[in-house]
Parts: sequence; C-alpha cells; structure tokens
Amino acid sequence: MIPTPHIQVDKKGIIAETVLLPGDPLRAKFIAETFLKDVIQFNSVRNAFGYTGTYNGKKISVMGTGMGMPSIGIYSYELIHFYDVKNLIRVGSCGALQENLKLYDIIIGMAASTNSNFQSQYDLPGYLAPTASWKLLKKAVDIAEKKKTEIHVGNIFSSDIFYDDNPDSWKKWAKMGVLAVEMEAAALYMNAARANVNALCILTVSDSLVTHEVTTSEERQKSFTKMMEIALELA
Ligand code: HPA
Repeated sequence: MIPTPHIQVDKKGIIAETVLLPGDPLRAKFIAETFLKDVIQFNSVRNAFGYTGTYNGKKISVMGTGMGMPSIGIYSYELIHFYDVKNLIRVGSCGALQENLKLYDIIIGMAASTNSNFQSQYDLPGYLAPTASWKLLKKAVDIAEKKKTEIHVGNIFSSDIFYDDNPDSWKKWAKMGVLAVEMEAAALYMNAARANVNALCILTVSDSLVTHEVTTSEERQKSFTKMMEIALELA
C-alpha cells in the first residue's frame, strides 16, 4: 500500500533504512539543509516534511512527526511497515523532572513510561515496558563517550497531556527516578518492538518542571547540534 495515506512516496528505496524523527517538520528541513548532502525532499503531505540525503557518505532520512503519540504512531508505522525503515531515531526536546538535570542537557530514553492507552491495542496479559533498542542505545552511548559529550540515560515519561489539570502529577514520575517528560517515545518504542525494528529517543532539555527555567533559542541551537552529532553517526 504505497503511497501511504500520510507519506507520498510511491517507490521503496527513496526513504533510508535509518530515519531521524524530530517533532517539528521545520526542524527536519533545518537538519536536512544543515547536516546532509545530496538532499531530496520526499514528503510534504500535511507539511510533515521528509528528506533523504547522506551524512559522511551514508544514506539517511529525516522526517517531522508532529506532536504526540497518535501522530508519531502514524508516521513510524508507515515508515516501518511500508517503507522498510529499520532504525527510527527520535530527536526531540523534553522537560526535566530531576533537579540535577540542567537546561540543554542531553537525555537518552532507555525506557519510556507513559499515561497513554496506546498499548491497549496489543491486548497483553499485563504491562509492557517500552524500551529503546539496545543496539542503538549502546551505539549512541559509545559515540557520546568518544566525543566526550555528557549524556544522561534512563527512564523518560511520554505524556498524553501538555497542559495538565493536575500540575503536580509529574512529581510522582520524578519520585520513580524518571528523568524527563516528552510526548512521543513510548509509541515509537512500541511500534518498533511490535515490528522487530530498532528505535531510540534522544532529547535535549528545553525546560525544567523543577526550576521552571526555559531555554533561549540561541542556546537551544548549540545543544541541538551536539545531540544531532550523536544521532547522525547512528546511520
Ligand atoms: N512537557 C511535555 N513535553 C515537553 C516538555 C514538557 O514540559 N518540554 C518539551 N517537551
């Protein structure tokens, strides 16, 4: 079934086996223009811009997913099941839930806890712990160590709610050692697990629920580049 309802590519091989997934489609455009060579644009349906190019000679794609689990659930499903994508790497931002985490820190989601109902579709006789691909996680940690880039690896929280009626509910996740909140990783990890492909979520801290600090756009750009250098080398 290609093209799919949300990706206008009618041939296999246009989208690389490894796809970087920022939430913001304009981020996808920026990544393609800034870091990739020989770029072609493969998607603009609903402005979910997608591009394929090369990084250090290796083919890699980048596509915006939109915000939230239903949105990344759709794009990642179509990429995996109809375009044979094997490595899906979310590059996003998050809110820190722990005091030791500072703005612009880089966090890798080893697992993604969630308040979403996404996993009810699998009708499991219990609860799945959505986790990153060990292969990608190990590789990302090795790359960061080699570059001497400080990272934090641990549990993250994928929330369905940005404007929460209970503004303190995040504290319960913080008590369980969860590092940060974002809104997509759990669905990505579940789609990847179900299809036996690899997924990873790399985040930079854009705000802190503990200190209420928020980033400036100039500083965001610098930390973003450090995160991208790790993500791009995963191709
Ligand atoms: N909450 C949810 N998602 C986020 C946040 C946040 O504070 N910051 C960046 N993504």
